[in-house]
Amino acid sequence: MRKINVFDTTLRDGEQSAGVNLNASEKLEIAKQLERLGVDIMEAGFPASSKGDFQSVQQIARTIKNSSVTGLARAVESDINTAWEALKDSAEPRIHVFIATSPIHMQYKLNLTPDQVVEKAVQSVKLASSKFSQVQWSAEDASRAELPFLARIIEQVIQAGATVINLPDTVGFTTPHEIGHMFSYLKEHVPSIDKVIMSTHNHNDLGMAVSNSLAAIQNGAGQVECTVNGIGERAGNAALEEIAVALNIRKDYYQAETRLTLKEIKRTSSLVSKLANMPVPGNKAVVGANAFAHESGIHQDGMLKNKETYEIITPELVGVNESSMVLGKHSGRHAFKDKLDELGFDGDKTQFQQIFEAFKDLCDKKKEVTEDDLFSLMTETMTDA
Ligand code: KIV
Ligand code: ZN
Repeated sequence: MRKINVFDTTLRDGEQSAGVNLNASEKLEIAKQLERLGVDIMEAGFPASSKGDFQSVQQIARTIKNSSVTGLARAVESDINTAWEALKDSAEPRIHVFIATSPIHMQYKLNLTPDQVVEKAVQSVKLASSKFSQVQWSAEDASRAELPFLARIIEQVIQAGATVINLPDTVGFTTPHEIGHMFSYLKEHVPSIDKVIMSTHNHNDLGMAVSNSLAAIQNGAGQVECTVNGIGERAGNAALEEIAVALNIRKDYYQAETRLTLKEIKRTSSLVSKLANMPVPGNKAVVGANAFAHESGIHQDGMLKNKETYEIITPELVGVNESSMVLGKHSGRHAFKDKLDELGFDGDKTQFQQIFEAFKDLCDKKKEVTEDDLFSLMTETMTDA
């Protein structure tokens, strides 16, 4: 099994979600939970972006012991110096420095030629590696960069001291096939690539962030960047919980594992949702309220016979107590009888049939039939008898 490092960026890219603003104590609370979850690296913020973020990164770097803590910096001397001040007290000082690499970003955003970008990247990595023991360099917008240019700049930043090379799909544009090709191409065309860890960082604009992350892992990424609940800029980042559980459930296929304590997933998701004030959609994979809820009679019947008929993830694996059978108009007799038994039903077949029919009528009138409703139906029928 290959070991994949989980780089969590909930506190940096995740906090870039529109409308999200975490204060220092909220960031620290999330950082402690990420440490319990077992992320290898957490990106605590962007120290040069504000005084508050600087203090928060510094506090997290001084507190967290079992995960490596990092902070973002542009390829600018003052950003790197500020990041050093914020992170120097951490157990293993680590920086994340980036510069844009696609033609559109270099021309319009940076107003620099490709050669000037290479020069700035090399200078920034040299400065960073004179201070930090771990230097991650990111090729922003890598998925829209030209591959020969990427190969050239990556070789040079490795020579300058980078230890991790991250290749972001900054605008969520790529596909699993293309990202696989990018990783394979760079493994073949960057002479020093074996000296570093390759990393993947994907956005979800076309809903492919998790698939792209998994494809990158299959093609050589040893680090995956993600956020809890997939929060982040625009449509968000690759969801940590989905990647972690996919790797675990499909070990046979990916042959890769993380060191995460998966049963902390639900708690982490709920904490981030509450503090970021971003509700988790009910149908969200792994952590949505409906992820382990079964409604139709056919599924409920299967579940009551053998849970593996309709559940590929056990709820306990991710810290959810148990799966649930939701009673609604699609429910069948099997699950309904089970529920009545749980409520103390001791009637005969005819009474059961009467209650079942009354329940189906009620389902056509009400969105949700509660346990209290069932109890009333049951007592009415039993008293009439
Ligand atoms: O999406 C992106 O390109 C980023 C970089 C700063 C790594 O978040
Ligand atoms: Zn990003």
